[in-house]
Amino acid sequence: MDAADVSDDLLHVLYTEAQIQDRIKEMAADIERDYEGKELLIVGILRGAVMVMADMARSFHRHVEMDWMAVSSYGSGTKSSGVVRILKDLDTDISGRHVVIVDEIIDTGLTLSWLTSNLSSRNPASVEIATLLRKPEALQMPVDVKYVGWDIPNEFVVGYGLDYRERYRNLRDIGTLAPHVYS
Ligand code: PRP
Repeated sequence: MDAADVSDDLLHVLYTEAQIQDRIKEMAADIERDYEGKELLIVGILRGAVMVMADMARSFHRHVEMDWMAVSSYGSGTKSSGVVRILKDLDTDISGRHVVIVDEIIDTGLTLSWLTSNLSSRNPASVEIATLLRKPEALQMPVDVKYVGWDIPNEFVVGYGLDYRERYRNLRDIGTLAPHVYS
């Protein structure tokens, strides 16, 4: 669906579908250049990264292998503990492999910080992170991110994989959610 389909729920559109596609092509070009001559495995973090993975993978002009992980934070639904549980692990043995973790947003940084150290312990040749969005003001844990689409303000954003109670993931654009939706 488009922003027009849920316009009453959005304060504004942060990035249009066209802007997102352009930025993802640029990120893919950067990654392609950095991994020239190397085998590359991109790892998407379910579920939000589905859209970014699909578009980024198709933006490459080279072969790229894809795998997926699903993780969940322990505790009362918040991510404050920083303890992460693996719900679905990789199907791939990443020892000796060049890995780029792909996600749609880094918020507190707890998930990606934990994931990076978890994957790094499996003896890969390298592990880097690519995220479409990052909220610098929300960061609680330093995360070394090599590829960032945009740094955004600490607002509630939805669309392009980002949900509020499992809705808006299929919105083509990324928008700021109006407070009346979640208050
Ligand atoms: C989102 C996103 C990251 C994580 C970032 O996933 O995909 O994995 O949150 O948050 P953090 O930096 O505060 O750790 P979410 O837990 O919302 O699950 P989803 O992808 O299934 O929507």
